[in-house]
Amino acid sequence: MIKKVLRMGHPKLQTPAQPITTFDTEQLHQLIADLFETMKATGGVGLAAPQIGVCLQVIVFGFTKSTRYPDAKPIPDTVLINPRYTPINDEQVDYMEGCLSIPGMRGLVRRYRNIHYEGFDPYGNRLEGDVHDFHARVLQHEIDHLNGTLNIERLASLKYFGFEPEIIETMRNCVLQP
Ligand code: NI
Repeated sequence: MIKKVLRMGHPKLQTPAQPITTFDTEQLHQLIADLFETMKATGGVGLAAPQIGVCLQVIVFGFTKSTRYPDAKPIPDTVLINPRYTPINDEQVDYMEGCLSIPGMRGLVRRYRNIHYEGFDPYGNRLEGDVHDFHARVLQHEIDHLNGTLNIERLASLKYFGFEPEIIETMRNCVLQP
């Protein structure tokens, strides 16, 4: 079912999510189906359970072609439960990032370029791997949601935050200092 995406200011977006302790339940599979359906309906590339009002450590992401991020390479549809990540090295990248909970806006957010992630699938099997660039960004963004953190808390400056498409156009004409 397509759910309402909570917007910035809602207390559930500021609350750390609880880990899943029982896997392969009907409720968990339904939550995952709702997350994918809502993500696809809103054109998102990722969605975290707290964004639809469920404070559990479940994220989904994936797309073949994104209209929100036309330059991004496809990511396979993925579910990660109780996810964690660690940076592989210090390398970081800036990108004009949005969030479905802050509709119509973008901001420049610096994130690790290469990360190692760990988590579980819906059946409780361990998942882990290394991801890079936009894929790594999406994971970091969604895991932030599970910690009650929105991407605007990571803005380098409010100067680099604004409404689409104005801010994207502005940033295109800027030379950024790394
Ligand atoms: Ni978000």
